[in-house]
Amino acid sequence: MKNSTHELRQAFIRYFEQHGHQTVPSSALIPQADPTLLFTNAGMNQFKRVFLGEETRAYNRAVTVQKCLRAGGKHNDLENVGYTRRHHTFFEMLGNFSFGDYFKKDAIRFGWEFLTQTVGLSKDRIWVTIFRDDDEADQFWKQIGVPASRIVRCGEKDNFWQMGDTGPCGPCSELHFDQGPSVPGDDRPNGAGDRVIEIWNLVFMQYNRDARGKLHPLPKPSIDTGMGLERLAAVAQGVYSNYDSDVFTPLLSAVAGRAGVQYGTNETTDRSMRVVADHLRAITFLMADGRIVAFYEHRLKLNDCFDDTICFGSAFGWKHIGILQHREDGHRGSDKSGWGGSRARHLGQDGTAGPHHQATQKKIEWHVSGQDGVGGTFE
Ligand code: ALA
Repeated sequence: MKNSTHELRQAFIRYFEQHGHQTVPSSALIPQADPTLLFTNAGMNQFKRVFLGEETRAYNRAVTVQKCLRAGGKHNDLENVGYTRRHHTFFEMLGNFSFGDYFKKDAIRFGWEFLTQTVGLSKDRIWVTIFRDDDEADQFWKQIGVPASRIVRCGEKDNFWQMGDTGPCGPCSELHFDQGPSVPGDDRPNGAGDRVIEIWNLVFMQYNRDARGKLHPLPKPSIDTGMGLERLAAVAQGVYSNYDSDVFTPLLSAVAGRAGVQYGTNETTDRSMRVVADHLRAITFLMADGRIVAFYEHRLKLNDCFDDTICFGSAFGWKHIGILQHREDGHRGSDKSGWGGSRARHLGQDGTAGPHHQATQKKIEWHVSGQDGVGGTFE
C-alpha cells in the first residue's frame, strides 16, 4: 500500500536523520520519573529536563515516534473518541526536536518540506495557524510560499502549548489539512467537524511555567514538534477518517467479526465500534509497557478504559471484561474469546514493539490470561 503507516513512520525518521537528527526510542507510556504526568502525553516528555537545561545529551537534534496516551490530565481526548474521526486515547506521535540548535525558520522549513515533498500532500490544501502576535512565524510561512489567506492567527487556547500546568511551553504554529467539501465541517482550521484537521504542531519552546503560573525564559529557545501518525496516515491515504486507514481497518474488522455487525452501516454501532477499537489498542499498549500492575492510579485509568469499552460494547451484547471482576471479587479470568491473541497480533502490526516484539506479545498474553489479576475476558 502506498503511504502505509509503516512507510510513513520510516519516511519521517529517515527525513530527519538526513537532516542531522538522532533517532531516540519511544519512552514508556507511564512516565518513569515525572510525578506531574499520569501518562506520556507528548514526544517532548522524555526531553523535559533537556529543554529546562537540567540535562545535556550527546546530540542537539532528535527524532522520535512516541507512544502517547491522552486519557486524563491536561491533554485528555477520551470524551471525543468515537464521536470524531480523528481522536484517540492511544496514538503515535511523530516528532522532531531541537535543543538550542535550530529554531522557528528551520522547524517551519522541515515541516513544509516533509509534508509537501516527502509525503506529497497538496500545498493548496494546507492551512497554517500561528500565535496571535508571532510576526516572525507569519513571515517565515509567507517566505516558504503559504499565501496570507491561509495563515490564521489564534489565541492561547489553540496556539500556546504546554505539557501540563507546569514545565516547558511556548507559542506554536500548526499545519492543518483540508479534506475537502465532501467532509462535513467548517472550511477553516479549528472549526467544527472533521473537514479541516490539525496534523502537525510546531512548538517554539521558550518558557518554563512555574507552579504559580509564572513564565521564565528557557536557557535556549528550542523546538518540539508533534504529528499524529494516525491522522497523517489517513490524509496521505486519501481517506477521511483515521478509522478507515490501515491502522484501524484490521482492528475494526476484528471488532465487526466479534460483534456480528458490519462497520459503516449505522452511525450508532459505528461509534461503538470505533470506541472499542481505540480502547483495545490503548489497553494493549498499556499492557505491553508492563507496569500497570504496580501503580494504582494507572490501574484505575485502565479500569475506566475497560469500563468504557464494555459500555459501548454492550450494544453488541457484551457483558463484561474481567478486570471489573478481578477488582471486586478477586476472580481471575481466562481468555475464552481469543481476544488476547488478536490484540497481541495487532501490536505486531504497529511495528512500535520493535526488537522486543516477541517478548511484548508474551507479556500481553500473560496479562490477558488473567495471571496478573488485571487481564480481561470478553464474555
Ligand atoms: N508537544 C506538542 C504537542 O503535543 C508538539 O502538540
